[in-house]
Amino acid sequence: MNGSAADPEGAPEGASAEVRAALAAVFDPGLRADPYGPLAVLREAAPVLYDEESGTRFLTGFADCQAVLAGPDFVVPDGPWLARERPEWAARPAADFFYASLLGTNGAAHERLRGPLTAVFGPRRAVELSAGVEKVVDELLDRFEDATSDGGAADFQALVGYPLPVAVVGELIGVPRAEQERFHRLGRDAARLLEPVRSDEDWRRADTAVTALREYFTGLLRERRARPAEDLASALLARAGAAGPASARRVGERAAGPSGGRERPPAARERPPTESELPLGERELADLLLLVFVAGFETTAGLLGTAVSALLAHPEQAALLRADPGLLPGAVEEALRWDGPVLMTERLAARPTEVGGVAVPAGGSVTAVLGAANRDPRRYPDPDAFLVTRPDVHVLSFGAGPHYCFGAALARLEAAVLLGRLSTRFPRLAPAGPPVRRASACLRSFDVLPLAATG
Ligand code: HEM
Repeated sequence: MNGSAADPEGAPEGASAEVRAALAAVFDPGLRADPYGPLAVLREAAPVLYDEESGTRFLTGFADCQAVLAGPDFVVPDGPWLARERPEWAARPAADFFYASLLGTNGAAHERLRGPLTAVFGPRRAVELSAGVEKVVDELLDRFEDATSDGGAADFQALVGYPLPVAVVGELIGVPRAEQERFHRLGRDAARLLEPVRSDEDWRRADTAVTALREYFTGLLRERRARPAEDLASALLARAGAAGPASARRVGERAAGPSGGRERPPAARERPPTESELPLGERELADLLLLVFVAGFETTAGLLGTAVSALLAHPEQAALLRADPGLLPGAVEEALRWDGPVLMTERLAARPTEVGGVAVPAGGSVTAVLGAANRDPRRYPDPDAFLVTRPDVHVLSFGAGPHYCFGAALARLEAAVLLGRLSTRFPRLAPAGPPVRRASACLRSFDVLPLAATG
């Protein structure tokens, strides 16, 4: 993938007409509302489907997707891949950013970026943010109530679905409220980088947005260096300051024993930090904040819209939730499973290997179709049913393995708070016009979701 359109004409010779039509349907903008029927056809007929045109193997089974994401044989396309395979992109600011980011690095280079983030922001910190999330949800729902108080419809995504994650991730990173609207627009353009197939227009927009956001985050870091606050920018700076070469472990230090190390043996000299211990520079810290921002709001806005829409399409499930708020976490998992925001993600074989019994050469591309995996009947009985009481749900919607979503706990929290408040404040919420889906092959989200509060 990573550049050429997935043309069903490129399906392998010998693939049945049914399989070719199903692959075409998955990428057909007109069928975006429900790609799950065609994906089920692929899963049954060709669970590892090589598509010559896009040069990737589409994986639609749960076990195969999980094995590829969590196992040691596959890596993400990274800087060396960029230089080798797409040198024409290398000068683009957006490519320079993405292929050195968490999502575009492997092994020690990836650990080096991920370590500081997880050190300063774990799942517990997400829970600590819950009071802030509740406050923002209440404010946004007040606005939604005002907008629909005359019995009319309002666009839920414009009023709640997008502003909520922008505010939450903005708060987390340290972006002041007043600047968040501009950020929303820039973030949307930068998020075009998450597309598996990027058009020239995607690149152009992403380049402009990345350049502006880099400048912004560099300025923010400078400000926080002078005046630290309670946010990710300040925490990362503090950690980067505390690290540095002086903090590299000393070889033989423990061998110095009870003497307290005063007479360290000759072996007890400083060793240079390993690659994953090298402290992050200013540009890298700015890029880290930028990635968290970009990865954190389009996806969550997608979940919020599709979760609300799924509940409206299944009133009996919404009624169960109203009757028992204890079902909220399960409802969020089911929404992630049933129509998760990230449909697919690509990996490359690090060495000759196989998946689903099919050989993959070193460097060969595979695309884990997370949305298809989440509806695999071998993993979930009656997979197309939307059931807030479904047991044993472990979704692949946040990925798996080393690149497992950093913000999963925060996204789950936002969705649970929103669904809980909606079901008590707006028990008669109803669709009020045709929704508009985001024009994307990968990110499943509503751009527009007209709802009425008193339908
Ligand atoms: C429902 C909402 C979300 C979904 C469905 C989602 C999905 C994903 C997926 C599938 C990946 C892995 C991509 C891959 O393996 O190729 C990922 C990674 C990531 N996500 Fe999320 N995400 C969501 C929300 C968030 C939030 C709220 C944040 C930040 C606060 C965030 C930050 C990240 C970051 C930084 C990575 C890169 C991790 C790495 O490569 O080590 N995400 N996300």
